[in-house]
Amino acid sequence: MFLKYFSLFLLTLFIIINKNDSARILAVIPTASYSHQMFYQQLWRQLAIQGHDMVVITTDPTGETLPNFKEISIRESYGPFKKIIDLILEQGMFNIFFSSEMDELGKELIHFQLGLPQVQQIVRNESEYFDLLMVEHMPGPFYALKKRFGCPMIGVVSLDGFPSSHEAMGNPVYSVLYPYSLFPYQENISLWERIIVVVFNGLARVFEQFDGLRMNVYAKDYFGVDVDVMEMLGETDMLFVNANPLFTVVRPHTPATINLAGGIHMKPPRELPKDLKQFLDKGKDGVIYFSLGSNVKSKELSMELRETILTTLSQLPYKVLWKFEDDTLPGKPKNVMITKWAPQQDVLRHPNVKLFITQGGIQSLEEALYSHVPMVVIPFLADQEGNAVKVQSKGLGLTLHPTTLNTNNFKNAILEVLKDPKYKANVKLLAAQIQDQPMTPMEKAIWWIEYVLRHKGAQHLKGPKIPLYQYYYFDVLGALVATVFVIILFIWLSFKGIAKCCRSLTSKDNKIKKD
Ligand SMILES: *[C@@H]1O[C@H](CO)[C@@H](O)[C@H](O)[C@H]1NC(C)=O
Ligand SMILES: *[C@@H]1O[C@H](CO)[C@@H](O)[C@H](O)[C@H]1NC(C)=O
Repeated sequence: MFLKYFSLFLLTLFIIINKNDSARILAVIPTASYSHQMFYQQLWRQLAIQGHDMVVITTDPTGETLPNFKEISIRESYGPFKKIIDLILEQGMFNIFFSSEMDELGKELIHFQLGLPQVQQIVRNESEYFDLLMVEHMPGPFYALKKRFGCPMIGVVSLDGFPSSHEAMGNPVYSVLYPYSLFPYQENISLWERIIVVVFNGLARVFEQFDGLRMNVYAKDYFGVDVDVMEMLGETDMLFVNANPLFTVVRPHTPATINLAGGIHMKPPRELPKDLKQFLDKGKDGVIYFSLGSNVKSKELSMELRETILTTLSQLPYKVLWKFEDDTLPGKPKNVMITKWAPQQDVLRHPNVKLFITQGGIQSLEEALYSHVPMVVIPFLADQEGNAVKVQSKGLGLTLHPTTLNTNNFKNAILEVLKDPKYKANVKLLAAQIQDQPMTPMEKAIWWIEYVLRHKGAQHLKGPKIPLYQYYYFDVLGALVATVFVIILFIWLSFKGIAKCCRSLTSKDNKIKKD
């Protein structure tokens, strides 16, 4: 206990010494999903330790007690957000994009979040100021805060950025090479897939523009600013992405896009809870860790799927730790232990854990990767399907679909990944390739944040922006085609003219001869 207070005292002292060039930073991560939140939690903490005044609006407060670190919980957002997740699970990722039901739920969520008194208290406080905004770069009204506080803005995402985010930084947004990370196909895509990607991308961009108009109304109503939200998006100073080359297509970036892939969200190792440690220690023949993450609850799986899983697990000669969110699991086999919550990073670091069965969320996959644990992926939503494809194609594990999962293929996949050493070898190799960087992702993030603070923005690092019709050469091709057309027309008319002339000449000749 004393040690804890003493270290807190030292930390406070360190923060006070550091305070010289400290800035006041507002971070806003509105998405009610643990994976979106946890990716940057270590960074918020580190910024406070560096002496900055941090205010973090988050759905998952960490409860960190540092003197210059304040979390504003918007945990209530999980209520309306859950409805959206349920709709996605029910209707599928792509059907919901243009559906009116989704639209209603989206509106409900925005009204709810922006109207929260704790959000209003900050936004409406006339004497409130920030030197830097760090806002989750997802379609929505929060870009408008740049105008409200009149400071530089760094966009942050826990995955690769949306095309509109990349475009804002001047990065190429060529959808055939760099499809939305939500698409399950990423490389060497067929003509049919390219048609889907291009049409979807086009529709999404048009939709985004219309949505932007709506966001302007929200920004006025809730933030009290007259602003073009899409224009604010375009004025983002810097973009932080998690574009792990394993799971996203490698793409060129302007210097204003910083890739933080490589484990910035990893916490220092901690002792496991006693019951978990005992269970894992005993699994000398190997333990399987099974978790479907935070959006898909194992307890909400269909009875049929649950039965298949239970039967399969009961036939395995290994212990299984299953993150299952209920107190009891009827029919639980003897080799399975259930836990409502597990410190996933520490579980994966345990030497007896030999396989991770996961839904394929990117942070989960990265944690497995850096702990050298191969995977069996059962993707459900969002980017999971795309990630699952990559896991299989890079030989890090195998992928099964929840709709086609049966005892037979599930058991075979588990045994194959556990028994064939190539999976673990691939995982180790790729982890080493990604983590071999000149600075740790944390150092990189801090350095660039302070760069933006020092120079009050980073607009000069962004690429040139041109309208899409210029980007896709429509005007150039149009001009060339028109020129060629005019030349051909000219030549054709000339020939016609010459021909006519000759004809009239020859006919005249003929006439003369006849005469
Ligand atoms: C408004 O912001 C200022 C500056 O951060 C702060 O000192 C003050 O306590 C805030 N007022 C309210 C009512 O939150
Ligand atoms: C794409 O094609 C290239 C060249 O044919 C090949 O080397 C690569 O493995 C392919 N990628 C995938 C994901 O199939």
